[in-house]
Amino acid sequence: GAPVEVDISKLEEGQMVRVEWRGKPVWVVRRSDAVLKELGGHDGQLRDPSSAEPQQPGYAQNEFRSVKPEIFLAVGICTHLGCSPTYLPNTFSEQVNGISSGFFCPCHGSKFDMAGRVFAGVPAPLNLVVPPHTFLDDNTIVVG
Ligand code: FES
Repeated sequence: GAPVEVDISKLEEGQMVRVEWRGKPVWVVRRSDAVLKELGGHDGQLRDPSSAEPQQPGYAQNEFRSVKPEIFLAVGICTHLGCSPTYLPNTFSEQVNGISSGFFCPCHGSKFDMAGRVFAGVPAPLNLVVPPHTFLDDNTIVVG
């Protein structure tokens, strides 16, 4: 499949844009500082907090799982049986499905944080996949 260009110049904090790459949905989310701060606070609840699994790209093996902290990309497919998780934006005032923000898979209840890291104790075995991508400039990402 051909690489896909994504213009993120109009992407505001908390928003997600969806693109298709190789027949798969790819999410691009602009995370707020509050979300980035929250990411450091629950490693003990995660199955693989440092994304040590070998299939993760090197630039996903940091606390933000991204090239730039604020811009998060993931393949929008649950690593359990392939359902499409729901994006729960910054709902810090309350928890929804047991998480304050992140991604929730309605099929069997898997939960992922705002870096796509899977919580322990749910069916999904792996963190969401970060697709290969590069920044052409501040506002343009190439996926693939
Ligand atoms: Fe997502 Fe089963 S497919 S929890």
